[in-house]
Amino acid sequence: MPKLTVRDLKVRSKRVFVRVDYNVPLEEKDGQVVITDATRIVETLPTLRLLVEQGAKLILAAHLGRPKGQRDPAMSLRLVAIKLADLLGCPVAFADDCIGEKVEKTVGIMKPGDVLLLENVRYHSEEEANDPAFAEQLAKVAEVYVNDAFGAAHRAHASTEGVARVVAKRGGQCAAGLLMERELKFLGEELERPARPFVVLLGGAKVSDKIEVIDRLLEKANTILIGGAMAYTFRLAQGCKTGKSLVETDKTETANAAFAKAKQRGVKFMLPSDDVVAVPVKTDKLDKKGKPVMDYQNVRVNADKNCPADTAGLDIGPATVKTYSEEVAQARTILWNGPMGLFEDKRFAEGTFAIARAVADVTQKNGAKSIIGGGDSVKALNQAKLGDKVTFMSTGGGASLEFLEGKVVPGVAALTDK
Ligand code: 3PG
Ligand code: MG
Repeated sequence: MPKLTVRDLKVRSKRVFVRVDYNVPLEEKDGQVVITDATRIVETLPTLRLLVEQGAKLILAAHLGRPKGQRDPAMSLRLVAIKLADLLGCPVAFADDCIGEKVEKTVGIMKPGDVLLLENVRYHSEEEANDPAFAEQLAKVAEVYVNDAFGAAHRAHASTEGVARVVAKRGGQCAAGLLMERELKFLGEELERPARPFVVLLGGAKVSDKIEVIDRLLEKANTILIGGAMAYTFRLAQGCKTGKSLVETDKTETANAAFAKAKQRGVKFMLPSDDVVAVPVKTDKLDKKGKPVMDYQNVRVNADKNCPADTAGLDIGPATVKTYSEEVAQARTILWNGPMGLFEDKRFAEGTFAIARAVADVTQKNGAKSIIGGGDSVKALNQAKLGDKVTFMSTGGGASLEFLEGKVVPGVAALTDK
């Protein structure tokens, strides 16, 4: 690790500003708002415990949702403070803003080992603008900066980047937390020199979201297995009929470039040979984004690379599950990003869940290293109750994707070099 980590710091009695990613899913249940998945909070506990044990004064900063500079009470971190206190087993104070005199006063009376969580940094529009004056205000209470928010490391915002620069300019240290360190190890170092065969599973809706990752992984992987709706853009490029499947008609050249690169580099690049298709029908319900909710009728296996004209492909079929599982069973290293189908609907979940079982199996039985690149793939593994049967699951969505693309993420770049 070329950057300082919390292990390198001496923090006794120091005010340590810790950026965490507590952007957790909330849901209303029986008239009460609850955190439905606390993974991102749980994963920061090792860093927080280490700092508490060493007698630091912990000032935690985080965002929740996208309030766009408004004090939207639905996106308050107050609930998170309660959950954190519960998990950490010690009191967590809460400040109803992230800057200002009140915060400074509260911090002024903190003792070594005390923990304070600041209110949502995105209640101020200056956060996302990475406004230098706002970063100075945040940094007022900071002697040392720690970033454990891997999930937000791809954002050059005031609390993820600006504060680090202010602290560094004063001669203060900026270090990675233990979660950040683990994420960089598994998504970075481990994939630099993977044990082979190195098998990559890529799914999700769009080729355009994944093309940079595909391009980079074509230089490292032995085998790439494609699933999800993006498989149909690849099929379209091969001249197949894709029916009503989700396709990006303007991305067929990109798809062809990937085929060519795979051939040139000797990478086995596989597409599904069969799928589960259904007839999509618009309902009169609208989703959160105002788009009509679809109903899927006449669900069936389609043992052909062409989809019937009135159907959309929504999952990989049994023959593909078999071939992909065989490839996975040979692997010594696996990277998985993106589900194989529309797994939120159980009629289209079997492809994703079967692959999850194959990945868990080869990890448990053969000691293969399996790395799950965050977002929906993690959700799918947890739904299949296999989350603890793989080597590593990233807490980042967009961040893990950008990191896998080989980009230098701003939250990491801002940390002090060793
Ligand atoms: C995430 O959940 O992806 C991170 O917390 C970043 O959030 P953002 O996409 O709203 O910047
Ligand atoms: Mg995101």
